[in-house]
Amino acid sequence: MANITYDAQGRCWILQMDASTYCLGLSEDASSLRHIYWGPRIAPATASEMAHAPRPLKRPFDMSAWTLREEYTPWGGMRFSEPSLKVEYSDGTRVIEWVFEEDAIDQPGESQTLSLRFRDRAYPLAVTLYYRIYDGHDVIERWVRLENTGGGPVTIEQALSADWQLPHHERYRLTYLQGRALKETQVTESVLGPGKVVLESRRGITSHQLNPWVALDPDARATEESGEVWSAALAWSGTWKIVVETTAYGEVHCAGGVNDFDFRYRLDEGARLDLPAFVGLYSNEGFGGVSRRWHAYERERVLPEAPAAVRPVLYNSWEATAFAVNERNQMELAEQAAELGAEVFVLDDGWFGTRDNDEAGLGDWTVNPEKFPHGLSPLIARVNALGMRFGLWIEPEMVNPDSELYRAHPDWVYHFRNRSRTEGRNQLVLNLAREDVREWMCATLDRLLSEQHIEFVKWDMNRYFSEPGWPEEVGRNPERIWLEHVRNLYRIIDELRRRHAHVAFESCAAGGGRVDLGILSRVEQVWPSDNTDAFDRLRIQEGFSYAYMPRVMMCWVTDCPNFLTRRTIPLRYRFHVAMAGSLGIGGDLARWSAQELEEARDFIASYKRVRSTIQNGLLYRLLSPRTGNVAASQYIARDGSEVVVLAWGHSQQFGETQVSLPLRGLDEEACYADAVSDMNYSGAYLAQQGLPMNLVGDFDSQMIHLIRTTPTR
Ligand code: DGJ
Repeated sequence: MANITYDAQGRCWILQMDASTYCLGLSEDASSLRHIYWGPRIAPATASEMAHAPRPLKRPFDMSAWTLREEYTPWGGMRFSEPSLKVEYSDGTRVIEWVFEEDAIDQPGESQTLSLRFRDRAYPLAVTLYYRIYDGHDVIERWVRLENTGGGPVTIEQALSADWQLPHHERYRLTYLQGRALKETQVTESVLGPGKVVLESRRGITSHQLNPWVALDPDARATEESGEVWSAALAWSGTWKIVVETTAYGEVHCAGGVNDFDFRYRLDEGARLDLPAFVGLYSNEGFGGVSRRWHAYERERVLPEAPAAVRPVLYNSWEATAFAVNERNQMELAEQAAELGAEVFVLDDGWFGTRDNDEAGLGDWTVNPEKFPHGLSPLIARVNALGMRFGLWIEPEMVNPDSELYRAHPDWVYHFRNRSRTEGRNQLVLNLAREDVREWMCATLDRLLSEQHIEFVKWDMNRYFSEPGWPEEVGRNPERIWLEHVRNLYRIIDELRRRHAHVAFESCAAGGGRVDLGILSRVEQVWPSDNTDAFDRLRIQEGFSYAYMPRVMMCWVTDCPNFLTRRTIPLRYRFHVAMAGSLGIGGDLARWSAQELEEARDFIASYKRVRSTIQNGLLYRLLSPRTGNVAASQYIARDGSEVVVLAWGHSQQFGETQVSLPLRGLDEEACYADAVSDMNYSGAYLAQQGLPMNLVGDFDSQMIHLIRTTPTR
């Protein structure tokens, strides 16, 4: 049971979670909030003892008076590390001196929230820090509310959501996910020395380059299976910043939130601003344990769908027909997709305006009459008659200069006076901070979803922000676009979901440019990368799985040679790679041979038998694609009744075809039967000796489905 208590003796708050404890308290003069403890679960009495242990002595020759490790750092006084909050008051004062006002513990049921309110001693700024924990999780959601309590505007220059203090250790290793378009979420490590590591996006979206997720383990000791790891992730889809700083005394803290670069936010009298959550998580079960805990949290507390929901098998026509879509070719693909067992058919780019390539049409969200002379209705009706749901691609935040929308509203895009408007993929970004743009976008999409029977939306976003100006707002607060764009994006999706509850959403941004806990709280799935080469994909998917659960990871089987790598890989391997998440098909089915179609039908049918375990189960990464010639993952159903193992052999060498994969997390006393071969194994055998696999030649793969035959206790 999650539990938050106030300990009067130690003047501290103690947050008890599933297997961890967090403790924080006020300094003696109530002018700062001390971090006391974050780690494995301890008794409240121990936390209290830590809280009233004597404060560390002032350090010799250190001019800083601060020996406290603060939970949230307003800039001011002798503080020189990354501040959490920096403001300017209307008389030019730029430092904050705050005092504690009140606390509250809200206990609505399966979650508990601690709020701690501070106010500036002399100026109209109130800052409330929030900490929310949940039953059965080791996650703390931290966020901040800023309020102007009256008396002149307050300009916010930097406002992070939380600053996580880590226990003292000799050296930390930082693990994070970096890459670029077509190479997203690559697992990367670096051992920290003194100084700062800044991970950030200044691109307007979450970014392909860095994902707002980090893990820190002391002395690089954690493995996939064991060891302490502290992890944090931001629930924000715009520009962001995570600073991991090691002080000269070896103290490590990790501060994160909205990026302060080019940022100013004017908080007028009476206004308030809620910052996005920066979520922290502790596990002593290595990186595997960290991932499983993130997945459980996403499944139960973040995603809009029920925890046990399964994503349908989807067909998307982008790689098959690109912009050359029309009623006939989409109907043909739909027939074939349905034949294979697809459950959703998605019409991608090219269906609207004058969209024959990427040079025109974005912004004009009306059906192209040459491609679809009778509108989309006949196609949708056919898709539905085939037993599938119909899905549609949109890219609402964008406009091509060659479009009716841009000709009518050239001022609706981000731009500066006397400066060029840099195009990316021949498009410009609509200024979604503007109320009229928000209203137009919401009404346009609402109309689309009301007029057509659309049950799935792929929301794309194919360029970063440049020239983020808003000339009409000069002199007021045009820099607020960095926040308002994302807040309005969230508002629109939330509103559409409210009005069209039957529609599922996918977040895509030229591949995996918008994957984070913020967007995941309002979409069913995300598109991790435009790189659909099954071999490359293994590493993208591995990194993705560190932070995000398999169910949200849409994976297509596409054609060979792959459009990007020119690599040819057997269909079986392509399926097995795509089956590691939510399965989709993205190939040109008209070109698949009868045998390939037959095989595909079988793979889809077998995927449907195991998908709830893969999408919602406990993931164990058995062998990483970054090491060796074989990669493998194991999934255990949450009730322990089934196990699925996927193994991918890259290139067999030296005649070594036999691989034995010791499985994890099994009940060693239970028995498991192979659903296909009828082989029987004990849990102990599978854990100790391992599941035998035979991988021959290049790009061989196998999926094993084990059913527990001993009843669960
Ligand atoms: C980028 C996406 O990632 C692709 O899947 C596809 O939808 C194209 N955009 C369409 O323009």
